[in-house]
Amino acid sequence: MVGHGKMDRCGQAHRRRESVNAAARESLEDWALSIAPAAPGAAVLDLGCGTGKLAIPYAHAVGPTGNVLGVDISPGSIAELQTKAKREGLTNVAARAGNLDEIANESFDKPFDLIVSSYAIYYATDMPGLLRALAAKLTADGRVFVCGPGEGTNREMDELLRRAAPDVEPPEPLADFISLEQIGEASSAYRKLETYRLANAVRFEDAEALLSWWRNHNMYLEAADQAVERALREHFAARGEFTLTKNVLGVLFCR
Ligand SMILES: C[S@@+](CC[C@H](N)C(=O)[O-])C[C@H]1O[C@@H](n2cnc3c(N)ncnc32)[C@H](O)[C@@H]1O
Repeated sequence: MVGHGKMDRCGQAHRRRESVNAAARESLEDWALSIAPAAPGAAVLDLGCGTGKLAIPYAHAVGPTGNVLGVDISPGSIAELQTKAKREGLTNVAARAGNLDEIANESFDKPFDLIVSSYAIYYATDMPGLLRALAAKLTADGRVFVCGPGEGTNREMDELLRRAAPDVEPPEPLADFISLEQIGEASSAYRKLETYRLANAVRFEDAEALLSWWRNHNMYLEAADQAVERALREHFAARGEFTLTKNVLGVLFCR
């Protein structure tokens, strides 16, 4: 299995979880677009764009006079994004392989009106440093919007794991992807910042789907595999569904 123990870095493990995210009650992309809208004609950069969860809706929002550039370390995800863009008739999306750690020193042709990053910015070795450096790549009133897991996310799975395998050392409960201290370090380059939270319910209707999600997630613990599988089968036999709450934290930095 791919991706265990690593927070979503692997494009393949991430793609396995995409169908799950698609079953979430709220749309992450609608949430992002409502907090950080992009006007027709705007230039948007999506860091760690994956297969285009944000890049594609932003490309629709900015229209033919705007453009979106996606950067991701995974060439497979970039190829998938390009296929999606083509299928949707979008001619304003460019995507290329690249490392977050190189973005701070990179010069782009033009400043961006908006830089977004969904569930990816924390792969930068120096996240606050990168966030600070992004200010110089924005237009005078440009913004950066980053989002990722919020404190207590997937709490229901954490509780089940602790109950099912009490002898196994549990993973650390999930904290906010960015701490207040890191937000403080990043914010010196910006005029103001705002934080947003979304609690998104994801309903699972069978044990297989939930097990497959868990086995591709950083919460996975091999030593608890059999106990969790047993507990989940019992849970579904009794209740027929399992709802996970995905807590999302978003931070908007404004120049
Ligand atoms: C959880 S996925 C999120 C993808 C997409 N933004 C979304 O919301 O669906 C994390 C993405 O970060 C990318 N990634 C991980 N480390 C990276 C790095 N150092 N530089 C650029 N991209 C990276 C992975 O390839 C993956 O596509």
